[in-house]
Amino acid sequence: MSETNTYLIRVEPTKQSRLSQVDFNNLKFGQIMSDHMLVANYEDGAWTDVSIVPYGDLTISPSMSALHYGQSIFEGVKGYKFPDGTVSIFRPDKNWERFNKSAARLQMPEVPEEIFMGGLKELLQVDEAWVPSVEGTSLYIRPFMFATEAALGVHPSASYKFVIITCPVGAYYSKPISLKVETYYTRAADGGVGFSKNAGNYALSLYPTQLANQEGYDQIMWTDAAEHKYIEEAGTANLIFRIGDTIITPHGDTILHGVTRRTIMELAEKWGFKAEQRKVSVQELIDGIKNGSVSEAFAAGTAATVTHISKIGFEGQDYDLPPVEGREFSNKVLDYLNQLRYGKIEDPFGWNFIV
Ligand code: COI
Repeated sequence: MSETNTYLIRVEPTKQSRLSQVDFNNLKFGQIMSDHMLVANYEDGAWTDVSIVPYGDLTISPSMSALHYGQSIFEGVKGYKFPDGTVSIFRPDKNWERFNKSAARLQMPEVPEEIFMGGLKELLQVDEAWVPSVEGTSLYIRPFMFATEAALGVHPSASYKFVIITCPVGAYYSKPISLKVETYYTRAADGGVGFSKNAGNYALSLYPTQLANQEGYDQIMWTDAAEHKYIEEAGTANLIFRIGDTIITPHGDTILHGVTRRTIMELAEKWGFKAEQRKVSVQELIDGIKNGSVSEAFAAGTAATVTHISKIGFEGQDYDLPPVEGREFSNKVLDYLNQLRYGKIEDPFGWNFIV
């Protein structure tokens, strides 16, 4: 007999919704959390107590191992509202797969489909009214897991918490961004944890990003650890370039395998572009900007969606990208994805997971 519905999700509705406090026409990224969250505990080798409860503080021990040794991973997913009110989540199965790859690398337990996907579905059903319908907005969904064992020895934690919180959001970047090529600090090396979405990968980006900000750039462009010659990703998203008629994105296990990046590369191929995942050197990019073959450059991510890059700073010199209006591919892909995710066109790929 196959085991289904092993995890019954208990629902405890809030007594006091905060929905009326939200200005859906003026949403900032990640500031206001929806009424409910999903929480599940991992103890004695099994997931237990899967529940949807009012959003609120969690109790933790000061010796909780995630705080000391960093077993902490997360995902970024988005939910959208169609014109008829249907709520849909964009490709959450890919986030679930990536989440469990991150978990394996950090010696954390897998989260079963029933809890991750089933939990997402049920949570969004409960907080359906929080999914915004204003153009350019969405419900940002943040599944995460952290180690909860209260012990100071360095070993995989015996217990974990898996949580999903959500928040209605507007754009992460409201205008094109400038990037500084980082040639000293390193995000990830071969054999490391670059592909995993663990909290430490973001913590280590803060200082170099602040230095780039002080020089007037919005973000950094990471390069490889060995030579600082090859482009990896930006601090908050993957990178995609159009060089000639080829759509190119850096590849390898030192970068995050983004769901938006993957989606865009799949669309590029479908639309007849050459789509390549390969090493891109900073020199190739700079030469291409100079000779005009690099016509588009953008950041791609769940939070960033498609964010155009305005200029790239390298070794004290700025290189301007062509005007955003003329960027055929990135504008087309953003427009297409918006239409698809908001349910305005048919979804031939099955990417919309209907709640
Ligand atoms: C996302 O795109 O969902 C991320 O997790 C990136 C984060 C910097 C907001």
